[in-house]
Amino acid sequence: MAQTPQAKYRKDYQSPSHAITDIDLTFDLYDNDTTVVATSKVKQLKESTTLRLEGEDLKLKSIHVNGEAWTAYDELEGALEIHQLPAECELTIETLIDPEANTALEGLYKSGGAFCTQCEAEGFRRITYYMDRPDVLAKYTTKVIADKGQYPFLLSNGNRIDQGDLDGGRHWVQWQDPHPKPAYLFALVAGDFDVLRDKFVTQSGRNVELEIFVDKGNLDRAPHAMTSLINSMKWDEERFGLEYDLDIYMIVAVDFFNMGAMENKGLNIFNSKFVLANEKTATDTDYLGIEAVIGHEYFHNWTGNRVTCRDWFQLSLKEGLTVFRDQEFSSDLGSRAVNRINNVRIIRGPQFAEDASPMSHPIRPDKVIEMNNFYTLTVYEKGSEVIRMMHTLLGEEGFQAGMKLYFERHDGTAATCEDFVAAMEDASGISLKQFRLWYSQSGTPTVKVSSDYNAAEQTYSLTVEQSTEPTQDQADKQALHIPFDVELYTQNGSVIELRCNNEPVHNVLDVTQAKQTFVFENVAEKPVPSLLREFSAPVKLEYDYSDEELIFLMVHARNEFARWDAGQMLLAKYIRANVAKVQEGQEVELSDAVVDAFRGVLLSKDLEPAFIAEVLSLPSFNEVSGWYKQVDVDAVTKVLKAVKVILATQLNDELSAIYHSSKQAAYSIDHAAIGQRALRNTALSFLAYTEQGDELAKGQYADANNMTDTIAAMSAANSAQLECRESLMQDYSDKWKHDGLVMDKWFALQGTNPAENVLDVIKQTMGHEAFSLKNPNRTRSLVGSFLNMNPVRFHAKSGEGYKFAGEILRELNSSNPQVASRLIDPLLKFRKYDEQRQALIKAELEALKSMDNLAKDLFEKVTKALES
Ligand code: TRP
Ligand code: ZN
Repeated sequence: MAQTPQAKYRKDYQSPSHAITDIDLTFDLYDNDTTVVATSKVKQLKESTTLRLEGEDLKLKSIHVNGEAWTAYDELEGALEIHQLPAECELTIETLIDPEANTALEGLYKSGGAFCTQCEAEGFRRITYYMDRPDVLAKYTTKVIADKGQYPFLLSNGNRIDQGDLDGGRHWVQWQDPHPKPAYLFALVAGDFDVLRDKFVTQSGRNVELEIFVDKGNLDRAPHAMTSLINSMKWDEERFGLEYDLDIYMIVAVDFFNMGAMENKGLNIFNSKFVLANEKTATDTDYLGIEAVIGHEYFHNWTGNRVTCRDWFQLSLKEGLTVFRDQEFSSDLGSRAVNRINNVRIIRGPQFAEDASPMSHPIRPDKVIEMNNFYTLTVYEKGSEVIRMMHTLLGEEGFQAGMKLYFERHDGTAATCEDFVAAMEDASGISLKQFRLWYSQSGTPTVKVSSDYNAAEQTYSLTVEQSTEPTQDQADKQALHIPFDVELYTQNGSVIELRCNNEPVHNVLDVTQAKQTFVFENVAEKPVPSLLREFSAPVKLEYDYSDEELIFLMVHARNEFARWDAGQMLLAKYIRANVAKVQEGQEVELSDAVVDAFRGVLLSKDLEPAFIAEVLSLPSFNEVSGWYKQVDVDAVTKVLKAVKVILATQLNDELSAIYHSSKQAAYSIDHAAIGQRALRNTALSFLAYTEQGDELAKGQYADANNMTDTIAAMSAANSAQLECRESLMQDYSDKWKHDGLVMDKWFALQGTNPAENVLDVIKQTMGHEAFSLKNPNRTRSLVGSFLNMNPVRFHAKSGEGYKFAGEILRELNSSNPQVASRLIDPLLKFRKYDEQRQALIKAELEALKSMDNLAKDLFEKVTKALES
């Protein structure tokens, strides 16, 4: 490495030295030498007459100040310093960039035949020298010039204000965005597309043109995205009172994209995975993902764009809040219980794992080397849980009052997490003093509960102890304010009113101390407690439930989430016990009572099918790993499979009955139909492990009239290694080999293939005509799924899985460090495995560390891991 990358600290924030109030950009687009002319109105705010601008990989052509050529400047590593500037001036900088050579997909690059940009977090500095920080807000005017035949559509933020033709077959369009914005929200697209158009009238009567741009030939895959957009606009008006603020809203789908999507003002750019869907090409999961991401980016227009972040340490201000909003949107439109379950699975699985890893950080990080490394589950998903806790503490009304005050105070500015909490506090009158610790403390708290029933006094007490283990980034932990939602039931399932000190109390207890006891009065019999209802805080719950109590809660708990959670706790008990048994050479067992409890859920007539499917879904390998300091990969895998086989065998009749009775004749994507398919395909995932498995999977693949059922059949054949696997995989590849996006599902199945020779197959698959390591979706589908979801083969004792990961990472380090940095995560957690495996993984990390061109992204993670 040329220079050791430097960390930035949250505590070092300083307001900008200059303001840039307006910027006028001209792009003359060519594949290898695009000229960018940027004219900014600059105003000095502090003492120094030197303006420091960030820039990466730019060729500087000229600098002018108020129209005069300027020579007082220094070109530095990653920056340009311009000296002796007048207090107010017009600064013009001309630079040259090479979009075609840009494989990192940050800044201006080519995706397929189109030009597009990605500027968050610090990509704008790859377009021109600028104050590339979110607290510098300017009004943008953008002129785009390109070949008219190749690039008929020239797009940027805001409204189209002018256009014209030029000699040589070129044309231009000029855009103006009336809303001042930070550079990370800038976007430009030039290309040839099919366009789906619609309209939306806002509640105050503004007419908004809606346009979705997709690759030619894909128009029949755009309607679901449009429906989702219209639903988002409506929902934000109804639930949050927030209305759109421009006359046009554009979404462009591109194939080469590092993440999910980007909320650029008026011109969202999306990974095509989160736009394109029809029943032949997309699964129900894809449909729901599109709805959620379209919603997410739309909701950013207020929470992110109208109010943005002061600095990148505040990222959760927009991301945690916007994830909370998209989760609420999906819950209001679909099943609240199923949405909550899936969100909680993410927290308990990968987010808890991140908290326990060398990358642990608070939702508002204190120290960053590469900002792209902090678009994490912690900032996004735990960040959303922190917002959700405030919503729980304040209630919907108090929370909405807080939102209103937040916008009154901060609309049009760059704010901090503290500003948000203060608005919530001031609007509701509820103190969040101790609650603020959730922003600065990393790690997962454990909440240990014990109970005591006093028959003579008719009291029931819950003693709650909280503790947070030290994390790599932070040794000392303090007691948090934990909203702890509880309910008590009598033996026949009725709810016991909670009373303390002769007064009724709310279900949500305020846990604020390291240890505290809540005594409930008038409790006439020993109750069954339902604890941490709705997962009211992102903590690990420990309570010594008996099997009988959990089975009781699976039936009697008043809300669906608590019933699902009881089922998960019951499974967890048995998975743990069986892992210990397997380690002692014994067989895996489930009690009849447990099997019967799941039978009861399967047979239930009043539960939603989608919910039943969730109850039947075992915790993932990764979630189970989180229960252990060191995980026995083989034992856990063996137990998870054996539990599945036992349930499949014992519940064979019930599963078969569901499978055969719930086939739908016609396809539709309403929530009821999605739920029914989910249940039927969950049944298939069990039946795959019975004698009928091969026949059912083969039959379903042949009969399927939609991608959900097709993939469910292939996935069952893959996990259970059914005989038909090869022929189904071959048929699918013959059919879809020309469509990378559809092939991603096939690549993911290759990556998660439990067969012993999977690594050879994967290496061979990298030569498939639809595969390219340059495309992040392809790479994540094949390589990412192998690293994250094929534990037995990835962690093979030979070390071949680790070696393969190392090779891929070294290649991606040069071509696309952002993708490399996401892929490396499973290797950072090497402390979770036995010593032999630890040594093998460490060797790969050391090899990366010694590279002389190691990107900051990998440098930050590798050094942290090796310090662990
Ligand atoms: N802000 C985007 C979102 O809503 C995420 C994002 C950050 C992003 N950096 C990116 C997307 C880089 C693509 C590429 O979630
Ligand atoms: Zn976001």
